[in-house]
Amino acid sequence: MFPILPERPTDAAQIDTLLDLTFGSERTKKTVYRLRENVGHLKPLAFVVRDEDGVVLGSIRYWPVAIGEQASPAIMLGPVAVHPDYQGQGIGRALIRHSLYAATRLGHRLCILVGDKPYYEPFGFVNAADRGMEMPGWVERERFQVMELAAGALKDVSGMVGKPPRGKRKAA
Ligand SMILES: CC(C)(COP(=O)(O)OP(=O)(O)OC[C@H]1O[C@@H](n2cnc3c(N)ncnc32)[C@H](O)[C@@H]1OP(=O)(O)O)[C@@H](O)C(=O)NCCC(=O)NCCS
Repeated sequence: MFPILPERPTDAAQIDTLLDLTFGSERTKKTVYRLRENVGHLKPLAFVVRDEDGVVLGSIRYWPVAIGEQASPAIMLGPVAVHPDYQGQGIGRALIRHSLYAATRLGHRLCILVGDKPYYEPFGFVNAADRGMEMPGWVERERFQVMELAAGALKDVSGMVGKPPRGKRKAA
């Protein structure tokens, strides 16, 4: 078993290296990165798995977003990454479960992501475009997903996903 631990400020460089390794250095050109620019990730939802030497083997982060004209608050899952040598051992699922549980306890009500449908569907994610949500750039429709963390949270929430209001951005 790999314990899930809160991310530390000193993990940042290792996480960048892990993300380059798993997603490639072009990763920042993706639409999701537009929503992350100049917005800090949510520190209470940033978790890692480390080996006994402190090397980061897995990481998950979330960003705050706002949906539609009402700027309904939501969180955006990702990036989540596991070092290639350690994939397929349950680390990714454990990071996702642990952080979604933490998000629910902290009172977050909606979570969106852009990712592989077969991987995220079992957690309870459903198609976000089907619920009238849009991303501010091109994403594959079937990869754009949303999940209620609180019952009924999706009711009356639709429209364009954007950055949260300025006061809630907290630079990273
Ligand atoms: C996606 C990722 C985070 C999963 O982490 P992991 O620790 O390898 O995953 P787990 O061990 O928890 O789960 C493995 C299971 O998920 C499946 N799986 C892994 N990636 C998948 C994907 N992209 N689509 C569908 N299923 C996937 C595996 O086939 C395996 O299934 P099984 O349990 O039936 O054998 C990891 O593989 C990774 O970092 N990939 C590169 C970066 C990436 O693509 N991140 C996010 C994807 S949206």
